[in-house]
Parts: sequence; structure tokens; C-alpha cells
Amino acid sequence: MNNSSLDQWKTRCHSVLQRNQIVLGNGLRYTRPAPMIYEQQWLWDSCFHAIVWRWLDATCAWQELRCATAKQLQTGADAGMIPHMNYWDGRGTALWNTAERSVITQPPLIAIAAWLTHQKNPNLAALAQLYPQLEAYHNWFSHRRELDNDDMVWLIHPWETGQDATPRWDAAMGFDAKQIGDNTANSGNPSIESDHLNTQTYYHNEYDNGLRQARIALVHTLIKHQCDAGALRQASSFCIAPLDFNAIRCADLEALGNIAQVIDLPAARYWRQKSADLQATLQQHLAKLSSDDLRHQPEVWVNLFCGAANQIQAMQMAQGIEHALATTPYPLSSVPLHHAAFAPARYWRGNVWLPLVWLIWAGLRRYGYDDLAKKLTERIADLIQHSGFREYFNPISGEGLGSEDHSWTTLILDMQLTGYA
Ligand code: GLC
Repeated sequence: MNNSSLDQWKTRCHSVLQRNQIVLGNGLRYTRPAPMIYEQQWLWDSCFHAIVWRWLDATCAWQELRCATAKQLQTGADAGMIPHMNYWDGRGTALWNTAERSVITQPPLIAIAAWLTHQKNPNLAALAQLYPQLEAYHNWFSHRRELDNDDMVWLIHPWETGQDATPRWDAAMGFDAKQIGDNTANSGNPSIESDHLNTQTYYHNEYDNGLRQARIALVHTLIKHQCDAGALRQASSFCIAPLDFNAIRCADLEALGNIAQVIDLPAARYWRQKSADLQATLQQHLAKLSSDDLRHQPEVWVNLFCGAANQIQAMQMAQGIEHALATTPYPLSSVPLHHAAFAPARYWRGNVWLPLVWLIWAGLRRYGYDDLAKKLTERIADLIQHSGFREYFNPISGEGLGSEDHSWTTLILDMQLTGYA
């Protein structure tokens, strides 16, 4: 890509992030995911925003991370948790029984985002300021979410995974085929689908609305069990330990080790060892998968991100990704096209989402599949050129879905600039 076209992407991405930035009274700023639909602050979104902001304005990147950690729990059984949503307007009570925040978390990319921001804009003071919060967060995961002594963490709500409605959670949610509807039931576009309350403009097909109601009802169960993962698992409530979430945690632990190292803390060894232990556990899980799973499951591909795959597994995954690029008009779908539940226009049930694409892209680079990573970047750039900075996309038609001007879709800029600028 030539410099003038890169400059155009920079300008476009900058303007999306700037338009979505919310300035708080105390001089802090965060970036909402999108206007109207997503006014609050979401944890993994903010990590992605920081990863993009670092190319545009380092101050905004650090502030984004500072705001994301600002409502970390200080007391109680969940002390150390960083909430998946911060309600800076104090309107969380209706859903969470707490005004300022949610009671669950989201994929931990915060040490990664801080580390990447530091790579571009070295700032040891900012890292040192964040470190105690990141440390408390990962200790919280260990104390509250590692249920089986194998470093894997368990999640108590689909929203914690960031992939709210993927068919992968149907069984754990107790959904049956009648509730789900068939894969031709589409969302009735141009509606906006969102699990977020206070939304004025969404409407769903009856199935997706029912699934969403079940996710909202699950919040009451969590509150009843004080969000105790062990108790929830015992009560047969939703409780899962997905490979992709754990792969993200493994990479975040590694980044935490890197941060501890550069700010000269002996804890660096502990975090690196913890990351290596989790990587070994993930490796054991990968070893049990068929080569078909390795080739065709996007959630398995995310394991490239933390280095859990051996070279042969990585090659099989890369072949699968190559195949998906060759056979999908607008890759990569988060649910394989041949999956029985694949539904390209239904929320999280078979669409292209930039956060997942970014994780897989970064994993390819980690294993040296740079050409494939570049091809993926080009295809995504074409898709956004075609449909704009939408929240997610139909992999068959390329149609943009969900909210417009969605902040995390600017991850395309990180994909374009990394290894280039
Ligand atoms: C949706 C997504 C979630 C994201 C949020 C804000 O709820 O499922 O992953 O964090 O929107 O973009």
C-alpha cells in the first residue's frame, strides 16, 4: 500500500475514533464503541481502541486504558475484577443492580494493549501506574475463575466471552432448536441488533430477541449466586472455559510479564511462568483436536495468538485460514460456513467481526505467516471500503451490519501499519 492511501486510512480511522470519544468531567476520555447504541465503555473494546489510538495519539491510548481500569473492584469477593462495562453516566442499576459498572468481565487484553502502546510510545511511568491494577486483575482470575487447578479460567455469562450469541454457547445456555430458529431467520435489516439495554433503535427477529432475553435473565442468576463461578457451575448455570478466551489470557499474562520486566519487578518471572503453564494446558487441549477442527474452527485459530500451537498445528490452521480466504467472498466468518447453525445476517451467528479477525491476524504474524496476514488485511480493507466502519459484516454479501461508525473496526489501521510504519 502506498503512503497516500495509508494516510487516507489514518484520517478515516482517526475521525471515527474522535467522533466516538467521550470527554469525562475530570479530564479523562474514553471511546464509546458507537454512537447511540453503545454509549458506555466496554473493556475489550477499549483495549482495541488503545491499540489503534497508539498510532494516532498516545495520550488518548493511555487515557483509554486508565478509564477502562478506573472502576476495578476494590473490595469484596470479586476485588480485582475489571468490569466489562463502565457506566460513566451511572445508569447501570436496571441491569446490574449497581450504577457504575457491570458485575462480569470480558477478554483480558489490557496488558497486551498497554504493552503495545508502550512499544510505539515508550512510557515507563504509565506502565508502572497501570501495573498494580493489571496484577490485581489477573490474580482475581486465578482466585475466582480457575476452578480446576489447570490455569484455565471459567466464564459465567456469554457476554464475558465478547461473542454474545455464537452458536458455541447454545448448549451451555440450554437453548433448543425451537428457540433458536433456523439459519435463514435474519435480523430484519436494516435493524440494529444489540444486547445492550437503553437502545432506542434495535429490533430483533423473535428468535434472537428470545435469546437476548435469556442472557438478560442470566444476570439475575449471577447476582443470586454472588457471581461465584464454582457455585454457578455446581448449579448447572452457564459455565464454560473456552479455548479462545484462555488463549487471550495466556497472551495477556505474557504481556504482563514483559511489563513487570521493563519496570524491574521480580514478579516478571511469575507471570511468564504462569503464561507458560497455561500455554502448556492449551497445547494439551489442541492435541486432542482433529485436523479438521484445526483447519476449520476460528476459535481454535485464536490459539496462534498466544503461541499454544506447535508448528504442525499452526500449519494446519494456516491452511484452514488460506482455504477460508479462497472460499469466502468476505472472510473471515466467526462461525464456519459449513456449520449447521451458520447464519450470516444474525448477530454473532456467522459474521465477520474485527476483534476476532485481529486476533487471528496477530497469531499468523506470531508464527511468521506474514504473507497470509497481509492477504487477510487486504481483504478486510476491501470489505470496509465496500461497507464502511460497521460493527460486523455478512461474509457472503459483504453487507455491513449492526451499528455504524463502530470504533473497533478501526483495527484495520493497526493491521495496515504494523510491520510497515
Ligand atoms: C456487543 C459485543 C461485545 C462488545 C459490545 C460493544 O455486545 O458482543 O463483544 O464488547 O458489543 O462493542
